Amino acid sequence: MVRDVPDRTAIFRRYLAKIAATLAALPLLLSCTNTDTVPAGLQAHPAGTQIAAIPALIPFPAHLAIQTGRFVVGDGTPLSFDRMDAESARIAAYFADLVYRTRGLRLVSQPGGRHAIVLRHLDDPNATGKEGYRLEVTPAGVTISASKPAGLFYGTITLWQLLTQTSGALGGVAIPALQIDDAPRFAWRGLMIDSVRHFQSVDFIKTMLDAMAREKLNVLQWHLTDDQGWRLEIKKYPRLTEVGAWRVPAGEAAQHDIDPLTHQPRLYGGYYSQAEVRDLVAYAAMRNITIVPEIEMPGHAMAAIVAYPWLGSGAQAPTAISGDWGIFPYLYNANEETFAFIQDVLTETMALFPSTYIHVGGDEAVKDQWKTSPAIQAKIHSVGVADEEALQGWFIQRVEKFLNAHGRRLIGWDEVLQGGIAPDATIMSWRGIDGAVTAAKAGHDAVLSPSPFLYFDFRQAEGRDEPSGRGQIVTLSNVYDFDPAPAKLTADERRHIIGVQANVWTEHIREQDNVGYAVFPRAAALAELGWSPAAARDRAGFLARMPAELGRYVALGLPHSTHIMAELAPPLPAGIRDSHELKPCNNVSILSVEGPAPLQGKRPVFLHSPANPCWIYERADLSGISHIQAVAGLLPYNHPNSSIAQNITLRPQATPNGELEVHLDGCEGMTIAVLPMPKLAPDIALATVRGSLAPQTGVHDLCLIFTRASPDPYWALHTVQLVPD
Ligand code: ACM
Repeated sequence: MVRDVPDRTAIFRRYLAKIAATLAALPLLLSCTNTDTVPAGLQAHPAGTQIAAIPALIPFPAHLAIQTGRFVVGDGTPLSFDRMDAESARIAAYFADLVYRTRGLRLVSQPGGRHAIVLRHLDDPNATGKEGYRLEVTPAGVTISASKPAGLFYGTITLWQLLTQTSGALGGVAIPALQIDDAPRFAWRGLMIDSVRHFQSVDFIKTMLDAMAREKLNVLQWHLTDDQGWRLEIKKYPRLTEVGAWRVPAGEAAQHDIDPLTHQPRLYGGYYSQAEVRDLVAYAAMRNITIVPEIEMPGHAMAAIVAYPWLGSGAQAPTAISGDWGIFPYLYNANEETFAFIQDVLTETMALFPSTYIHVGGDEAVKDQWKTSPAIQAKIHSVGVADEEALQGWFIQRVEKFLNAHGRRLIGWDEVLQGGIAPDATIMSWRGIDGAVTAAKAGHDAVLSPSPFLYFDFRQAEGRDEPSGRGQIVTLSNVYDFDPAPAKLTADERRHIIGVQANVWTEHIREQDNVGYAVFPRAAALAELGWSPAAARDRAGFLARMPAELGRYVALGLPHSTHIMAELAPPLPAGIRDSHELKPCNNVSILSVEGPAPLQGKRPVFLHSPANPCWIYERADLSGISHIQAVAGLLPYNHPNSSIAQNITLRPQATPNGELEVHLDGCEGMTIAVLPMPKLAPDIALATVRGSLAPQTGVHDLCLIFTRASPDPYWALHTVQLVPD
């Protein structure tokens, strides 16, 4: 058999096109002064660091206008808000904490004040809508104004993102003068976490809530009941959690893992007490997140039926909760006792969760038991419905009436459409988007959460290091490319699409950090689908904003996938060179060594001479090149007694962390760019700096050299890229 030989030229051409598309997105916006790395109080470096760039904001705002000038935020910048307004005070504290944790800057709470960051909670309740805000940066200060606390909160999140444009950089930071007028595209920007198949700690759920808030996601659908467990404390039915929250995991190993107290296989599980739930609901609300509880019915009910066998409809109730996955046949009964149970459970649930919506599941309720149950067949007859599917419709409508009577609204997976539902019910479309299309055409609201592209339990990359998950690959770009405006709907019908949601089922995600890995950064793409206007859709631009977003995850210790970095920076394209593809400026003890960070994980390797951190980029074609971007690490000088020590070359620095100088045709040639280096946080491996290059034509050797006042520590170049206009 003849094997297909990949067409390498075509692959390379496609790759170049991809890079070109990414770069093409960069200079779209305008004349901002990007001096992100300039510490407070310093002027921008005189030579050539003014660049045009789109700020790396995610989700990208509805309207952004870059203006002339900049504002420097430093240690001690005043933060002004109405102290009599508890919401403003809380938001100010949250923002100040984020800035401190990520940039090491202490903002000072101060009423009024010049050169301040001012939060204005507007008296006009309609000026910016429920979640919108205006953010104005001028050389004289920053003002965030919003009608509602949610908008004020989101304005501070955007400002924090403006302050964290450079991964790992600490200290004072200049942001461009600008005006942002922002509001979301959709009201429902959700994430569903399955805490049944595997259990996550309260602290972990809080970590997810904080991370969601930073992406302006506003709904956590919490999957609390299913076949494999019941995770919500219900006071009236204690066996739901005493019995229903515990199972023996599948497999021989678990069978042989004997609990010394019971002499039985150790049980896996857990549940959330009502006190914990109240705490989480309040924690979420302070971050503009509504937790929507999901109580599954009439299927996915095994755990409840094991706890209270009279709830079941089969001839024989299950006696133990299975550790297996998939769809089980156990459905609730449809008698009065079962409805009384469901209403009791919903009553306690509503007391815990103030959300308008209560999710009742409704998916994958195979009707085998209902078909063979004489009681159910009698019920079908007595209520006058056609069959078991219609009985599910009757069941769900009855529950809906109960919820409506308590001022709540029902939402369910798209199967709840099958038996017929009341107009007030909202559909969550998971089997593709057809459920949402049918629902919207029939006048129901719908949320789009289709498998596979918004199912975050699918793996996001190939490779042996990828954590477990469903096998198909759903990449960051796949998520971004999902179109939340179904073409089959008219503009009027589309108004029923109230939002988007991603779901993380956890059958194959045992370790909670891997839930974080599955969600981030794909949640960033979800956030952009849910928030940014359709007209702002720009995958290349989004990907170009990802490195800064990943830098924020690193700074805050959020578990996440870094696979996208490999996607963004695979084999070096024309224009990018690794230090190993540059020539050290002299031959004194050339080393190829790892940097000191990160403490955990892979460290970058730098080819260089510690005696003289200087490289020649040979034969660079500078025609059409407008910028240079360099990635560098900060290395300890630990060669005191070697030949290196006798050959140290220093070059005076002008800014606190030194500069990368770029010279034309040799190290004494004309300076064509100077890039001030940032202060680098201790466990951060690399800093990225970027600046404009005085225009040149033709092919030249470039000398890239770091200034430094002393040998220790010193910057070493990792990669350098020449960026075209
Ligand atoms: C689902 O994935 N069963 C909603």
